[in-house]
Amino acid sequence: MKKSNNIIDRRKFIEKTSRAAVTPLIAPLMGSAATIKVGETQKKKYALVGTGVRGTYAWGKPIAQEYGDHLEMVALCDINMSRLVYAKKVIDTKAPIYHSSEFEKMISQTQPDTVVITTTDCFHATYASKAMELGCDVLSEKPLVTEAQQGQEIVDMEKRTGKKITTTFNARFGNSTEEIKRIISSGELGRVISAEYQEYLDVDHGASYFRRWHGKKRYSGSLLVHKASHHFDQMNWWLDSEPDTVNAFGKVAFYGKNHSFRARNCRTCQFKEQCDFYWDINKYESKDLYLEGENEDGYLRDGCVWDNDIDTYDTMTVEVKYANEVLLSYSLNAYMPYEGQMIAFNCEQGRLEVRNYHRQPWEVDVAADFRITKSFKGTKAWSIPKSTGEHGGADKKLRDKLFLPNQPDTLNQVAGSRAGLMSSLIGIAAVQSIETNQKVKISDLVNFPLSWGW
Ligand SMILES: NC(=O)c1ccc[n+]([C@@H]2O[C@H](COP(=O)([O-])OP(=O)(O)OC[C@H]3O[C@@H](n4cnc5c(N)ncnc54)[C@H](O)[C@@H]3O)[C@@H](O)[C@H]2O)c1
Repeated sequence: MKKSNNIIDRRKFIEKTSRAAVTPLIAPLMGSAATIKVGETQKKKYALVGTGVRGTYAWGKPIAQEYGDHLEMVALCDINMSRLVYAKKVIDTKAPIYHSSEFEKMISQTQPDTVVITTTDCFHATYASKAMELGCDVLSEKPLVTEAQQGQEIVDMEKRTGKKITTTFNARFGNSTEEIKRIISSGELGRVISAEYQEYLDVDHGASYFRRWHGKKRYSGSLLVHKASHHFDQMNWWLDSEPDTVNAFGKVAFYGKNHSFRARNCRTCQFKEQCDFYWDINKYESKDLYLEGENEDGYLRDGCVWDNDIDTYDTMTVEVKYANEVLLSYSLNAYMPYEGQMIAFNCEQGRLEVRNYHRQPWEVDVAADFRITKSFKGTKAWSIPKSTGEHGGADKKLRDKLFLPNQPDTLNQVAGSRAGLMSSLIGIAAVQSIETNQKVKISDLVNFPLSWGW
């Protein structure tokens, strides 16, 4: 295990857990037998693995506190016991806690219907496979996989067990994202011929990835997988198509080695006064989630953005040819002076242009500006108002859709394993393209037939 800013090496983790995975299961758990009867209704039982900030606040706490009529939190699991203890307190649940080495024991003792996976990205697939093998459905945070081979394992396991993966793409639920979906599917602009997606991550949010495990490709698959999987999924969903070929360029051009001084982390840094990227963890509201367990796993939440080992690209461009012949031009820069997105669709009958505002040093009183310009005809512009809640209210919309009964899904927003995989595979293909200087065909990354109807 590396000392700096890392959790546990994925290879070591797999070696450790695969010993447990080959242990014959005494009694595979059946989803229906694992629910609790409450009067006429049945409460679905949920276990959470990965009690970091996302797992604790976006999933654990709401499951335990807001959806109690329909769900029950039955167990929490993490590799870090101190973080587990802290998360249990925040979630305010009586659910027992289990170290990650006791994952099988947790499933057999608490019999969840569904396992929610919010660990470091590179472990999602391993937990998804094990959970399905043990009889549970899966709700996994993006990215579903960080390596192509994991996709193969997940698809095989889903097919063999008949269990179901849902990939929790909250980015499909933003008001602006939904508006784009409605416009593109309406056919108002005719056939989409090409699309543009520019992601601007600023020196606050963008930099935060380089302080943590996200800055190392072996944990996050790079921002092309960790972050861009949201954007690639949106594009796949908007276009109602799947990627065919990917070409990409990327480099670490700003963070990592690109600086004259560095330290292990901000707290111990001798350059606090000089460094624009000095970040005081003591001012961070979730600091205890990380500080209390730091000695256990060496996970530094305030790692140095100039760490020489950073290999996650901060600058990248990607071209994707889709199965329906649409050409996508994508870029992500993670050191911008402001945060937001520029998205456009070039269509047979005109162009849709969308500017999403997230954070900028000038006054903007809307969430997004939209403009449709029709060839040989007029132009119209409108705005999407700001909304409240995590990710502009998208997190709650996603949770309501997944957890409340009888929710319609008219925009087809609930994503399964296929969508999870396709978005990850674009990022994985992009990394391969950068490393090999070659175009990559998605069908060359996996053995399973892409036409499978799963
Ligand atoms: N959809 C979104 O908007 C969104 C936002 C933030 C994070 N996420 C996703 O949520 C996940 C967690 O992100 P985070 O910001 O909470 O990160 P985090 O580092 O705060 O939390 C990760 C947790 O996983 C635990 N962990 C690491 N390895 C483990 C293992 N092998 N077994 C069990 N637990 C392990 C860590 O101890 C930690 O508690 C990531 O996959 C990330 O991509 C999604």
